[in-house]
Amino acid sequence: MEGNSGPLYTPLCQILGIKYPIIQGAMGMVTDARFVAAVSNAGALGVLASVNVPLNQLKDEIARVRDLTDKPFAVNLVPLGATFRQRAEIVAQSGVKIVTTGRGDPRQPVVSLLKSFEVKVLPVVPTVRHAKRLEEEGADIIIASGMEGGGHVGKICTLPLIPQIVDAVKVPVVAAGGFGDGRGLLAALVLGACGIQMGTRFIATEESTAHPRFKQLLIAATEEDTLVTSRFTGKTVRVLKNRLAEYFYRLETEGEKAVELEELSQRGWWKKVQEGNIDEGMLAAGQIAGLIKEIEPVENLIQCVIKEATAICAHLGNIGGILPQRH
Ligand SMILES: Cc1cc2nc3c(=O)[nH]c(=O)nc-3n(C[C@H](O)[C@H](O)[C@H](O)COP(=O)(O)O)c2cc1C
Repeated sequence: MEGNSGPLYTPLCQILGIKYPIIQGAMGMVTDARFVAAVSNAGALGVLASVNVPLNQLKDEIARVRDLTDKPFAVNLVPLGATFRQRAEIVAQSGVKIVTTGRGDPRQPVVSLLKSFEVKVLPVVPTVRHAKRLEEEGADIIIASGMEGGGHVGKICTLPLIPQIVDAVKVPVVAAGGFGDGRGLLAALVLGACGIQMGTRFIATEESTAHPRFKQLLIAATEEDTLVTSRFTGKTVRVLKNRLAEYFYRLETEGEKAVELEELSQRGWWKKVQEGNIDEGMLAAGQIAGLIKEIEPVENLIQCVIKEATAICAHLGNIGGILPQRH
């Protein structure tokens, strides 16, 4: 589906200036400038995760994205920790036009702060309640994320969440959590979303900076191979099952004291992921893992998703006529 028309050219494409209605979910430890630029060059929205970029390197990493693409891209901010405001200022001073936000401190008026920097703000939310509040604060687009997704998750599944948020807010809604192919993209559009955000599926690309062992484990995983624990970050996070995740999960369900778990959390699982220690690192990933069978270039992946969605549209006949009225 090429050009600025057709059922896959949605308000998301118009608002963000992108070709396809796909956002690459920010992924700490997995995205760098080269990867983000590859996504944007392929027609989707590349998003640079900032959570693992040292404060004094953030400006340069953003400049590097700009060197590698002239297409729109975004930076992700996680509203936690003492450096959040400084990071937000660096992003704004670097001329970034689009910001997505991850799970953070609900007391911080994050969206209104970012809007004061005149950027488009796309917060990720887990419930209708959050969506309404952040729309009121000025969010341009809501990313509604179900508990099937990788990384921080809430408690509501994507299928019931999307239409309820679509009905509750006036701004466009992007669906996240469990998307990995063209069928998923179309399903999201039918539910009233104007596009999808995919994270896990993008880990298994040639350009992602995930360690090769992490990519291989993801490919070998089935839909049953993830679990949710709050022990890595203090907030519920969906990860691939490995020795440490299962240990955390067991302690948690057996009611073990948090203090002992806190000690375990200090073991440097970020670094272990980078080193390819797939037993003791935190390998954030969602239930769509079972659908992933190969590592491919970002461009191929995006083209496959778009071609599949386009082919289904053609097969279903008039769905293309229905979709634009729904988002
Ligand atoms: C490895 C990994 C790291 C992530 N890190 C972040 C992050 O730094 N900030 C954020 O807002 N979301 C983060 N997420 C969530 C993704 O941006 C996205 O919303 C999620 O992966 C969508 O669900 P899916 O995995 O089913 O595609 C992460 C997800 C994964 C899998």
